[in-house]
Amino acid sequence: MRPTRIDPTSSCAYVGEPMRISLSDYERDATAVLEPMVHGYYAGGAEDEATLRWNREAFGRVRLLPRVLRGVGERTTATTVLGTTIRTPVMVAPMAFQRMAHPEGELATVRGAGRAGTVMVTSTLATTPLEEIAEAATEPLWFQLYVYRDRGATRELVERAAAAGYQALVLTVDTPVLGSREREARGGFRVPDTLPLQEGPSSLARYAHRHLDPDLTWDDVVWLRSVTSLPVVVKGVVHPDDARLAVEAGAAGIVVSNHGGRQLDGAVATLDALPGVAAGAAMAGGAEIYLDGGVRRGVDVLRALALGARAVLVGRPILWGLALEGDQGVERVLEILTSEFSRALALCGLRSPQEAMQEGAGLLGPTPSPPSAHRPPFPGAGGSS
Ligand code: FNR
Ligand code: LAC
Repeated sequence: MRPTRIDPTSSCAYVGEPMRISLSDYERDATAVLEPMVHGYYAGGAEDEATLRWNREAFGRVRLLPRVLRGVGERTTATTVLGTTIRTPVMVAPMAFQRMAHPEGELATVRGAGRAGTVMVTSTLATTPLEEIAEAATEPLWFQLYVYRDRGATRELVERAAAAGYQALVLTVDTPVLGSREREARGGFRVPDTLPLQEGPSSLARYAHRHLDPDLTWDDVVWLRSVTSLPVVVKGVVHPDDARLAVEAGAAGIVVSNHGGRQLDGAVATLDALPGVAAGAAMAGGAEIYLDGGVRRGVDVLRALALGARAVLVGRPILWGLALEGDQGVERVLEILTSEFSRALALCGLRSPQEAMQEGAGLLGPTPSPPSAHRPPFPGAGGSS
C-alpha cells in the first residue's frame, strides 16, 4: 500500500489516499469501483442470502474467554497444512474468474498470497491457465477440482495440475447443481470465454448444467484417489456423517463450507457446523479440518481454531483487495487478517495457532441467554399490546 500522509493540523489524521484498515474498508471501496454485474456475481449469495448472512452472524455469537499473564511477547502465526508450513492459518479460497476483478487476475492473487506466505487454491474456473499460475507461485498451491461430466477432461485437468506442481486437489462437492444467485441473474452475468469445454457466452448456471457432473457419489472420491497420488481435500461438507464418509473415502482434509452462501440458501452457518464435522471426521480416524465462509477478522480465525479448525480460507475479501490494489491488495488483506489474528492470540494469552487449537473449548465464554430469558418477570408487566 502507498504511504499515507498524516496532516498534524487536521482533526482527521489521514488525508489524500484513502486508508484501508480493515477488510470492511476493502469491501466498501471495491463495491464502489467494480462494475455492478461483476460485483453482483462476486458478492451475491443464493436466493434470500440467509446463509450468507448467517455465516457472519455465527462468529458474533461465539464469545471468547481470554486468559491473562501468560507471557505472550514471543508469538508465531505459522502453522502447517498437509505437512506444508504456511506463515498464517489463512489460505486463499478458490474463486472463479479473477480477471474480471483486475487485468492480472489469478497471477496477481498468487503473487499476493506468496508474499503473505500462504497457500492459494486455484479454481477449475480460473481465467488464467493453471500452469501460468504455478509459474508465478512462490508458495505451495492447491488445485480446486470440479468434476466434469467428461471424465477424460477431468482426468486431464488433474494430470496437468500434478505436472505443474500443485500439492493437493480440493474436490468441491457442494455443487451438483448451481445455487440460484439472483443478483447474478439480474445483472445478466455471462462467463468469460476462457473456460474448459466452453462454446460461446452463457450464464454460469447453463455452463454448470452442461458440464459439471450432478451424479457424483463417494465412489468418485475413491476414483479420484485412484487417478492421482496428490492428497484429496473435500470441500463443501457440513454434516457430521459426510465428514466421516469423507475420511473413510480417503480424504486428507475437509473444508467445512457452504460455498460462501452461494449454494443452498438455508444451509447452516459453517462455524455452527464445524464442531460436528470435526467430531464426525474424528470418528473415522481424523483428517485436517479447515473452514471458510464469512471470515473477516483475525478473531474469527481464532474462533474457528478454538472450535476445531486447523486453518481457514477467505474468499470475497481477496477479490476486493485484488480489484482495488492488485497483488498488493491481496497481500494487504492477508496481512490485515494475520496481524489481527496475532493480536487476538496475545489478548487471549496464546502464542501460536497450535496453542489456540489445544485450548479449544477452554477459550469459549458463556453465550448470553436468548431473548426469552429477558421477558418481564411478571405476566403483563411489559404493558399491553
Ligand atoms: C467462490 N467459491 C468457489 N468455490 C469453489 O470450490 N470453486 C470456485 O470456482 C468458486 N468460485 C467462487 C467465486 C466467487 C466469486 C466466490 C465469492 C466464491 C466459493 C469459495 O471458495 C468459498 O467457499 C467462499 O467464498 C468462502 O466464503 P467467503 O470468505 O467469501 O465468505
Ligand atoms: C461460484 C462457482 C463458480 O461460486 O463456484 O460462482
